[in-house]
Amino acid sequence: MSDSNTPYELKNINLPSNAVWHKCTVSPLDRARLMEQTPRCIWLTGLSGAGKSTVANALDATLHENGVKSFLLDGDNVRHGLNKDLGMTESDRAENIRRVGEVAKLMVDSGLVVICAFISPYKRDRQMVRSIFKHGQFVEVYLETPLSVCEQRDPKGLYKKARAGVIKQFTGISDPYEVPENAEITIDTSTLSVADSVKHILQVLSQ
Ligand code: ADX
Repeated sequence: MSDSNTPYELKNINLPSNAVWHKCTVSPLDRARLMEQTPRCIWLTGLSGAGKSTVANALDATLHENGVKSFLLDGDNVRHGLNKDLGMTESDRAENIRRVGEVAKLMVDSGLVVICAFISPYKRDRQMVRSIFKHGQFVEVYLETPLSVCEQRDPKGLYKKARAGVIKQFTGISDPYEVPENAEITIDTSTLSVADSVKHILQVLSQ
């Protein structure tokens, strides 16, 4: 089908090639220096109920107490606003992670330490986010808490609904979770307390 009659504006509306990068005077390094910290994206991945939000929140609180300028992006919260138009299909999850990755990148460029807590079940999506950061800026934390423990915890009653078939495409039950192979940090919250999990992450970050 020819689009020769398509108005110029419509033909080009989705073409990124028409957007030219505008170089800003203040660089991410300038901003990091002003903030007096090393900006990073700390990405927590794992099953629902693995403890991502709990550990992420405790880490954020500890950083804040220590004077580190941080921010927390949590899956359930982001899905109430920026990503409320997205569901749980593979492509919607990919878009969820893509948008969050881009937001996290902007925040890191502004000088913040950004903590992201998302199931992010697909390797490809996590790899895509990793690839937009500079080497060392992206720290993947895999919460390897076993499915049996997550299901026993079932803090939101979602596993019960998933087992009953009320919720479709539930990660770990009727949808896949692809285990990370190159996570910088691995934590099992069924054997490590929240406080010790935070300590462990901070220790690795300080190396
Ligand atoms: S992700 O897969 O796209 O990374 P995200 O972390 O944003 O997921 O959201 C996960 C949250 O959505 C879970 O904590 C849970 O409360 C809720 N949820 C609703 N439906 C599902 C589902 N089918 N699978 C997993 N989590 C779900």
